Amino acid sequence: MIEVEGLTVSYGAGRRTVLALEEVSLTVAEGELVAIVGPSGCGKSTLLFAMDGLIRPTQGVVRIGGKEVRGIRRDVALILQDAGLLPWKTVLANAELGLRIQGRRGDVREVLAQLGLAGFEHRYPGELSEGMRRRVGIARALALHPKVFLMDEPMANLDSITRQRIQNLILELWQRLHFTGVLVTHDVEEAVFLGQRIFVFSPRPGRVVEVIDNPGVGTSDYRDSDQFLARVHHLRKALVGSAT
Ligand SMILES: Nc1ncnc2c1ncn2[C@@H]1O[C@H](COP(=O)(O)OP(=O)(O)OP(=O)(O)O)[C@@H](O)[C@H]1O
Ligand SMILES: [Mg+2]
Repeated sequence: MIEVEGLTVSYGAGRRTVLALEEVSLTVAEGELVAIVGPSGCGKSTLLFAMDGLIRPTQGVVRIGGKEVRGIRRDVALILQDAGLLPWKTVLANAELGLRIQGRRGDVREVLAQLGLAGFEHRYPGELSEGMRRRVGIARALALHPKVFLMDEPMANLDSITRQRIQNLILELWQRLHFTGVLVTHDVEEAVFLGQRIFVFSPRPGRVVEVIDNPGVGTSDYRDSDQFLARVHHLRKALVGSAT
């Protein structure tokens, strides 16, 4: 479903060039949910931007559904790091933004209600809790009914209870909607809770250094299993290893 082949991305030109990703190759099967883990600045957001067609690869190619990604696509939705809400727009307007950018119409009220945001449509982001703001970001993406869901640290900087709630929400949405998902996170437990496979990246320039199979994903009590703890331990070691 998603094929990344020899993806290299550099920013800037001349002596200011920053190599963000180097020769990254990976595939995500249709309906699969994978996690991308790596140190800050290793190019995780860059990878999602390339998958979403927001930036062009310097080398290599990204294909979704067999077609090369060359710009924003209707069937792909990106949840931005820190939700990316516009503070001067209401919850409703923020949730509709993705549809509007794509020149589409649709009723986002139903999606907002599913995420527990009914009654808050006319509030502004500044009037919400951080957990609610993240759910508005998720609603904006869900409203597109995407086949591919790209998530850039949707749970970063949340308290642990809210973080678990949103993790459970993402699991439930994935099981109900069968989207193909790529979750970027630097939280080890979160990667193991949600990633059927976990791609470990090196520090910048980001390269895939390990792929961990994690077939236990799928129930909210997976967190309490020995298998979960063993994988968390393994991933921690892999991350430390990648940084040395
Ligand atoms: N527009 C830009 N111009 C120049 N350099 C950039 C630009 N955007 C990102 N970079 C650099 O590219 C590298 C990768 O950035 P990216 O945001 O993809 O990392 P990340 O893994 O998402 O980091 P974090 O975990 O902190 O979100 C970083 O070193 C960053 O400084
Ligand atoms: Mg990032």
